[in-house]
Amino acid sequence: MTSHILCASDELRDGEARRFDVDGHRIAVVRIGDLYHAVGDRCSHANYSLADGQVWSEDCALECPKHYSKFNLLTGSPDSFPATQPVPVYETKIESGQLKVVI
Ligand code: FES
Repeated sequence: MTSHILCASDELRDGEARRFDVDGHRIAVVRIGDLYHAVGDRCSHANYSLADGQVWSEDCALECPKHYSKFNLLTGSPDSFPATQPVPVYETKIESGQLKVVI
């Protein structure tokens, strides 16, 4: 397990999703309030970028922009069809103002 610096933590706005490419992994990072969530960026249904989708802060979910399955940011699981498989979930942490993801 290795920590990778993504950006300064205050670069992401509340409710924003952003894609990062880290060590061969495509990762969608979402900020909800002071919490940062990281999941695999490739939708498990058809490989679209989840970071381009809508953030549902109240549901702690990220919606695929193509067919609208919503992925829970804590578990990676979709809550609706057509996606049926979860996406990976990664640990995030803030150290010295830097947002990091653990892979
Ligand atoms: S590509 Fe994401 S739900 Fe179809």
